[in-house]
Amino acid sequence: MPPAAISPNRLPRHVAIIMDGNGRWAEARGLERNRGHLAGVDSVKEVVRCVQDLGLEYLTLYAFSSENWNRPDAEVSELMRLLEVYLEENIAEAQERGVRLRVMGRLDSLPASTRSAVDRAVDATRDNPNGDLIFALSYGGRGEIVDAARRLMLAAEAGRLDPELLDEETFAAHLYLPDVPDPDLLIRTGNECRVSNFLLWQIAYAEIYTSPVMWPDFRREHLEVAIGDYQSRERRFGMTSAQVETVSETVSEAGRGSRA
Ligand code: IPE
Ligand code: IPE
Ligand code: MG
Repeated sequence: MPPAAISPNRLPRHVAIIMDGNGRWAEARGLERNRGHLAGVDSVKEVVRCVQDLGLEYLTLYAFSSENWNRPDAEVSELMRLLEVYLEENIAEAQERGVRLRVMGRLDSLPASTRSAVDRAVDATRDNPNGDLIFALSYGGRGEIVDAARRLMLAAEAGRLDPELLDEETFAAHLYLPDVPDPDLLIRTGNECRVSNFLLWQIAYAEIYTSPVMWPDFRREHLEVAIGDYQSRERRFGMTSAQVETVSETVSEAGRGSRA
């Protein structure tokens, strides 16, 4: 059951989160940055449970960007280690809840041990029916678009695709996870207002919510406030407000009609 602040009718299908602020959270406490990453794992666990309790279908978490490879070696290794531990410890809970663990990004760049933890989690949960938990790992939006373009060019070269017929749908079908719908709501924590190369294609019409809360402090109630805020917005997709109202009335009339 959604909490009172959230309506059960206009829930986002897909929430994507840029989990930012771990380093600043730690530094503000006189701790090493890596302590912030460790604390951030608890936020991941809580947010994942909240999303599942609300019955949302897709949650994508930006865990490691292609640019994050430029961080100090000790920080990169700790992030990889935490990810491995998280995956290993959470396969059982994902199985219990029927959640499918998935990943998107240039996985070939991952260390072998991280890659095998990822493969194990993905394989073990492959057939689970109760929603997707997707980790963007070694991920960059521009890289994803370039990888899609490369696949399209190879298909054209092999005669399987006519460049004249290329449209947005065909392009999107060559992204990393083509079956996943675009995020409805994009949340960024850590008091920054930028996209940092996340899901550039997919967020074309996402509602964006930024939170001043550093990721290790982000809890269920913060997520619920973000979803409540999302529900108060009017998504116009380029139309006028009056058109949007007519469309939603028509849709609800049709819904009433089909039930009659
Ligand atoms: C987000 O927190 C975690 C990753 C990018 C992996 P940061 O480490 O970016 O924290 P800040 O932005 O430095 O506070
Ligand atoms: C974005 O955060 C990447 C992740 C949350 C994984 P960053 O901290 O790397 O982004 P910038 O550098 O502030 O743009
Ligand atoms: Mg950051």
